[in-house]
Amino acid sequence: MATQTFDLSNIYSKDSVDTELRVPVHAKYDFATAQPDPDSIPFKGLTDALSTMLEKQGGDLAFYPDTRGIPELRELIAAKLERDDGFKVSPDNIAVVNGSAEANFVVIKALVDPGDTVIMEHYVYSGTLAQFRKAGANVVGTPIDDDSIIPEELEALIVKLTAEGKKPKLLYTIPEFQNPTGNTLPTERRKQIIDICRRHHMVIIEDECYTDLRYEGETQESFRSLDDSGMVVYVGSFSKILAPGLRLGYFVSDPETMRRALSFRMTGTNHFTSLAVYEFLNREMYKHIDYINVINRPKRDAMVAALGENFGGTGTTWSTPKGSLYLWVTFPEHVNATELMPIAFKAGVGFNSGASFAPNGDGDHCARLCYGYESVEKNRDGVALLAEIMEREGSFKVSPGG
Ligand SMILES: Cc1ncc(COP(=O)(O)O)c(C=O)c1O
Repeated sequence: MATQTFDLSNIYSKDSVDTELRVPVHAKYDFATAQPDPDSIPFKGLTDALSTMLEKQGGDLAFYPDTRGIPELRELIAAKLERDDGFKVSPDNIAVVNGSAEANFVVIKALVDPGDTVIMEHYVYSGTLAQFRKAGANVVGTPIDDDSIIPEELEALIVKLTAEGKKPKLLYTIPEFQNPTGNTLPTERRKQIIDICRRHHMVIIEDECYTDLRYEGETQESFRSLDDSGMVVYVGSFSKILAPGLRLGYFVSDPETMRRALSFRMTGTNHFTSLAVYEFLNREMYKHIDYINVINRPKRDAMVAALGENFGGTGTTWSTPKGSLYLWVTFPEHVNATELMPIAFKAGVGFNSGASFAPNGDGDHCARLCYGYESVEKNRDGVALLAEIMEREGSFKVSPGG
């Protein structure tokens, strides 16, 4: 038995970072993560679907799987994209991977070198922001309003960055129910953005993992349906309509981008889970999507109503998305939601402050509150508790309701 601890410090690779391990934690009222209601996960449907598929073709589990995922699931996705997102794609140009996080990761690896400039919405999903930063990208946020990216501002930013010698390579965007604001980019703006990106020779990564979660209004035309030249990479996920624990997402790109992106995958896609998800979705995808939208809508309404009741008169504003699992809150400028986060967590309310979604820094006075995971009652009570905590911490110059 060795007596001294082995010193690995000269051995670690230059790229490795001693990172804190992320262990999921849940506050009593968990508004921190865009995750579904655990009661909505179709356990019986998934296990029935799995048994059927195992009986039919379970022997295939003996093989190391296809890096693009099982053909049945890719065919189902192709049909869904044609029906819901308005574009036709061969299943050969769809890759099913371990969640849209992995899809984004391999696409970023295929497109971005350290030092490259990339543009995304300011504010934007913290996970992809972290992935771009990890890839060494110079990440720049483009201004958004209630209709998301403002095309004129985007073009002015591209021109400015190019003049500074930092010509951006790509735009990463979440067009439907942008995470974290919940805003949707109208088709007209998408057309303008395609024109801008084409003129400036930029790729668009369109991350559409929330597009099915709509309970009001119309789905806008996807970037990929507006451009099939290869400029648009489309990313989708089963995490938001089923469950993140299944780890299945996908991307659609031109064949060479796909081959380059998949070169960063050292393993195939989980065949066992794919069988269950394929057969379940084949049987009842739209019934299930309708069901989750029916249960999420009153949750959104409860959170919005509770914000009105408990934050009215404090100078706080919030978005009311027409779908998704979250909304965006802007507190008065003097509030520091980043400092409040651990205090609120200890007192029972989990949320993420705006700073984690900010490519350009700032965001301390904002927060994303996710309503999909908790019940209607807990959405109502948790928001009331948050107001109580903030009042106690002296966050408001005017008391709620005052
Ligand atoms: C915009 C966006 N993209 C990607 C992901 C990653 O999701 P998953 O890897 O579970 O598909 C998330 C998760 O919240 C997200 O909000």
